[in-house]
Amino acid sequence: MKTRSKSIFFISLAALVTVFVVLLGSSGRHNSRNKVIAMDAKEKGINISEEIEEILYYATLAPSSHNAQMWKIRIVSPEIIEVLLDSKRTLSEVDPLNREAMISLGAFIENLSQAARIHGLHAEITIVAESSFDERVAHIRLERSGMITSKDAAELRRNLSLRGTSRRGFKNEPLKEEHLSSLLMTVPGKVHYYPLGSPKGQYLLEGLIASNEKQANRDNVQKELSQWIRFSKREAEKTEDGLTPQMMGIKGIAGWFVSHFFNSDTVMKDSFRKQTVTTVRKQVENCSGFIVLTDSGKDAASLIRSGMELERLWLKASQLGLVIHPMSQMIEEYPWKSELVGKLELDTLPQMMLRTGYIDTPFEPVSRRRPVSSIIETDIRTISTMNK
Ligand SMILES: Cc1cc2nc3c(=O)[nH]c(=O)nc-3n(C[C@H](O)[C@H](O)[C@H](O)COP(=O)(O)O)c2cc1C
Repeated sequence: MKTRSKSIFFISLAALVTVFVVLLGSSGRHNSRNKVIAMDAKEKGINISEEIEEILYYATLAPSSHNAQMWKIRIVSPEIIEVLLDSKRTLSEVDPLNREAMISLGAFIENLSQAARIHGLHAEITIVAESSFDERVAHIRLERSGMITSKDAAELRRNLSLRGTSRRGFKNEPLKEEHLSSLLMTVPGKVHYYPLGSPKGQYLLEGLIASNEKQANRDNVQKELSQWIRFSKREAEKTEDGLTPQMMGIKGIAGWFVSHFFNSDTVMKDSFRKQTVTTVRKQVENCSGFIVLTDSGKDAASLIRSGMELERLWLKASQLGLVIHPMSQMIEEYPWKSELVGKLELDTLPQMMLRTGYIDTPFEPVSRRRPVSSIIETDIRTISTMNK
């Protein structure tokens, strides 16, 4: 009897591992963005203006690999902000050269620049990082440039809030011609599209499955991933970062079970790794196609620029009702990493690979963010409002 209940327990556990991994990479649609907590700098005694705090809040809504949010900022004066790399949050296994860290910071800078417009400010951006390991990434001067209408400001806020990673429920429908041309125009010459079913689309489909399998079988990669999965609600609330079951769409009893019985060891299990590959197969077989965003990536500045372009593209896609799911494994793993340019007949390197398409239900992002106060690295508590 004892043995029987033990096996029932393990069968249930295996089933739930399956549920979790099937949904890994799938987003639930709850509105749990911690907006209230995020706007807390003033409460914490950091005397920045409300507009700067709001601009920084929208900057933090940028995407980042594993939702590690490897950004910090230093407020130099009411008009000058420095964007910094938080090296304690980088991913040495999947991103040993900080390529994705720079792309994430680029997305942060793009959001910051767009959010500045809400308040009639222009962000003059100077990229200062010479290497992708430099702490100082960009220097931003905010200049008054004339107010925008409240309708446009509301639209900007909405757009920045609604961008997110969607991982499940993609329809098997081709991309509409007008949507494709709009995406191609957003970053001219650097956006390449491969429809599902085309020969290059098929190469990407197979490569994504195989590269994910390769990664899932690398212990160090899984270990690193396990450090960014927040199984329990308490842990998620404490850290406000990483990948939560909610981001994977796990709710109800399954969510309760995962939050109580899963831990970092679960990620190292064979069943979890196998299910990851099964999930990826389902994901890549269901979408409109794959977008590849290219740039030379020859220095930190070009990677940061790619991050800014990624964010512009993503914001445009979400405006059009398209969903985006970055899948980085082919860019991270050999042999795909070195053969992609040739196989896709590109003239420069892929920096991001995105599964794209349409979903039935409206998308609502649920990934968590650390509050603004926690990204401000400064002991200046005397910054007052922007000069009007
Ligand atoms: C450079 C970069 C690489 C990423 N790679 C992946 C990936 O391989 N698989 C995935 O599911 N999401 C990937 N993402 C998406 C992040 O997990 C996501 O942005 C983060 O969890 C925050 O969630 P949000 O995009 O919904 O705000 C990537 C994002 C960035 C910026």
